[in-house]
Amino acid sequence: MNISDIKKSIDGTELATVKHFFPEDTGELLVEEMYKFIELDHLYESAIREVKTKLEILDSEFRTKYSYNPIHHIEDRLKSPKSIFGKLRRKEKSFSVEQAKANLYDIAGVRVICNYIDDIYTVADLLIAQDDVKLVKCKDYIRQPKPNGYRSLHLVIQTPVYLSEAKEEVFVEVQIRTIAMDFWASLEHELKYKADTSVSADLADRLKLCADTIAATDAEMQDIYKTLKEIG
Ligand code: GTP
Ligand code: MG
Repeated sequence: MNISDIKKSIDGTELATVKHFFPEDTGELLVEEMYKFIELDHLYESAIREVKTKLEILDSEFRTKYSYNPIHHIEDRLKSPKSIFGKLRRKEKSFSVEQAKANLYDIAGVRVICNYIDDIYTVADLLIAQDDVKLVKCKDYIRQPKPNGYRSLHLVIQTPVYLSEAKEEVFVEVQIRTIAMDFWASLEHELKYKADTSVSADLADRLKLCADTIAATDAEMQDIYKTLKEIG
């Protein structure tokens, strides 16, 4: 969907389409404000592309120099206006593009899946070291896992996006984790939507055990890989 499609919808032909993109309880959200949200989408989508390109270049450089890829694959997601609305409301902010830009760090999300734990820190360090990347926040849930067993390295960075009339510094949330951590997080994510608390408690315990097993396996695999490298 592009801006002219949205404009057509907003102009009254397909109001249902607009409702699909914007929450119903935004009240009298001005059409102008809706346009600004489309531009916001473009801005954060561009920031995702910038960050992904940086990561892909680092990965291909490693391939060229060391015949090795630290990155297994990259995923990304853009927060929808509906989710932006929900989060701004939880933070008791008004629903506007300015409030979203200033208060939300995770409109643009990039997830980097690595083979080994060391790769996570290599990728993070090289990304942060770049001149136009500013580290805003870092949460190391690998050294300090969440009580449920969740592990990942979370960064919030700020990177410039060059537009026709301005340069904008944009926040991007980068989550970096191993394949095993990612496998675990996908399953654990499903638990959040289960209502039955008695079953959930048991599943949460079992997931916690899986997280610990996975962490031990990640560490052991890393060690075996290092030893293999040393013996050539
Ligand atoms: P948010 O406002 O929720 O983003 O809070 P925060 O800034 O404290 O975020 P945090 O760094 O804790 O986590 C942000 C994101 O990491 C979430 O949106 C998830 O994608 C992921 N995440 C964090 N904790 C968990 C967890 O326990 N399980 C899973 N599956 N994912 C998690
Ligand atoms: Mg979040």
